[in-house]
Amino acid sequence: MRPLIIAIDGYSSCGKSTLARQLASALQYKYIDSGAMYRAITYELLRRKINLDDLAAIREVLKDIHLDFKYDPSSGRSVILLNGEDVEQAIRSWEVSEAVSQVAAIPEVREFAVAQQRRMGKQRGIVMDGRDIGTVVFPDADVKIFMTADVKIRAQRRWKELQPLHPEISLAEVEKNLLERDRLDTQRAVSPLRKAADAFVIDNSHLTEPQQLQMAMDYVQKIMHNLPIEKTTIS
Ligand code: CDP
Ligand code: CDP
Repeated sequence: MRPLIIAIDGYSSCGKSTLARQLASALQYKYIDSGAMYRAITYELLRRKINLDDLAAIREVLKDIHLDFKYDPSSGRSVILLNGEDVEQAIRSWEVSEAVSQVAAIPEVREFAVAQQRRMGKQRGIVMDGRDIGTVVFPDADVKIFMTADVKIRAQRRWKELQPLHPEISLAEVEKNLLERDRLDTQRAVSPLRKAADAFVIDNSHLTEPQQLQMAMDYVQKIMHNLPIEKTTIS
């Protein structure tokens, strides 16, 4: 059977990249974090002190950006390269989190990122997570998963993750940022975040990481072997 394209979309901090990375590893597929691409573009714009309303300047910066992913054997993870520089840590900063959804709503930025994502998917055998992967980037993806979780639980998880880097950021600020990004991501004009009609929904509010992986693997196996899928799992 030819390798699959697996698309995972959903709200901010609901476990998409955790699941995508583990699924990719179990299937020996490549994992691509599309959010890291929007973060890397945002990081470069902030670093060059570009006004985020200055479209002409943003277009010029896009011409200079090349994004790629490199497997890092020491961590067992892939890292994003911005013009060859490993910016995996830098793009997770609070400053980038606060600006990224504004940048990701710019049509030229999306066109740039989507073209690269499709190029990366040419070989198939990929798991890509984001907001518009099953709807816009790969509308014909073999497997589409839409993830969601209670916002309080999402905020708690992200806050815990941010503690070493940003101990000054409160849980309330994290929750506010998640809600604001969800608002911008769902309301933008170009490729807004929405569930594809044929996506399998996983609410992981009360699931452990191994449980959500098992649920997703069961679903992938059904698609791989053409087994019937219960109506209740598709909405
Ligand atoms: O912080 P979190 O892991 O929830 O988000 P991310 O996947 O790193 O994505 C950062 C931001 O990039 C999102 O809030 C969206 O604004 C944007 N994004 C997008 O618009 N489309 C994608 N396919 C992926 C991310
Ligand atoms: O990619 P996305 O922003 O959707 O979320 P993530 O970075 O994969 O997950 C956010 C945090 O939630 C991570 O620290 C995960 O370890 C944690 N998580 C969890 O505690 N339980 C789950 N079922 C899924 C994720």
